[in-house]
Amino acid sequence: MKIILAPMEGVVDALMRDMLTRIGGYDLCITEFIRVVDQKLPPRVFTRLCPELLNGGKTFAGTPVRVQLLGQDPHWLAENAVRAVELGSPGVDLNFGCPAKTVNKSRGGAVLLKETNQLYQIVKAVRDAVPPQFPVSAKIRLGYEDTSLTLDNAAAIAAAGASMLTVHARTKSDGYRPPAYWPWIAKIKQQVAIPLIANGEIWNATDAALCRQQSDCKDIMLGRGALAMPNLAQSIRDNSPAMPWPQVLELLMQYSEFEMCGDKSQYYSNRIKQWFSYLKLQYPPAAELFSQLRVLRKSSEILTTLEQALHLVTDNATA
Ligand SMILES: Cc1cc2nc3c(=O)[nH]c(=O)nc-3n(C[C@H](O)[C@H](O)[C@H](O)COP(=O)(O)O)c2cc1C
Repeated sequence: MKIILAPMEGVVDALMRDMLTRIGGYDLCITEFIRVVDQKLPPRVFTRLCPELLNGGKTFAGTPVRVQLLGQDPHWLAENAVRAVELGSPGVDLNFGCPAKTVNKSRGGAVLLKETNQLYQIVKAVRDAVPPQFPVSAKIRLGYEDTSLTLDNAAAIAAAGASMLTVHARTKSDGYRPPAYWPWIAKIKQQVAIPLIANGEIWNATDAALCRQQSDCKDIMLGRGALAMPNLAQSIRDNSPAMPWPQVLELLMQYSEFEMCGDKSQYYSNRIKQWFSYLKLQYPPAAELFSQLRVLRKSSEILTTLEQALHLVTDNATA
């Protein structure tokens, strides 16, 4: 079984990838998307979003990190895909699932699921341009408004030469509303011969087993669940329980210290709040702490609140 850490714009950055892959269980990470419009982007755009490129395309724990591109123009996507692998990305992933209005308005992301031929042209151009030893993968939803083109889209992507296809088993209109329609992935599998990765609504080991059974897919990708339970991948592999809350607090502190001094420090408070919005699904004390953090604007105030919470749990443990 391969377990892939999902791309999550605004949440799963290099630091999060570093922490989660150190905890273990992941075979591959996909970066947040790089938006490609009509130019070859400078290397700094790639290294800012994927600093692992400076580390041989791997996290410090040694997990490969593949750059994801989002765009609609086959030529410019191909040019930037080549640049990504030249800079050290072990392959390229193409985003055909993003539901954001701004992206969809300019014909990027999930809206391309209405244009089967364009999907084909994009994947073909990228596959032809990137040296064959580098995988070119794609990530789709089941469709834009409905599933009428699901099988055609998957077949077009496979025919264009994609090495692997991740299926987030919902349409763009479904948003993130449960359920994820895992049996749809099994239907796709009957039509296409490339490796499929099942994605959507895997929050624990039981979900993972059900998803693998219903999708007939051995490999999975974890998104929000990986943030709700930092050891989710490992727990799926060995049925271990969720990481204890004090350990999660230590991770939060570690994340804060690094994130606040990195060049993304201005995003710190939003990022940590977004992480909390997932943690509170798994950990009741996270919900309590989130209600205090939610109103805080300054990074230093958030850090102090986290420190106090950590002291409280360690004092209680030693009392
Ligand atoms: C905040 C957020 C950001 C995301 N960013 C991306 C992205 O950059 N690229 C992408 O292909 N999917 C993105 N996704 C979709 C996830 O990769 C994944 O397909 C989705 O969350 C379903 O999986 P899950 O139910 O395990 O979370 C994002 C999802 C969320 C919630």
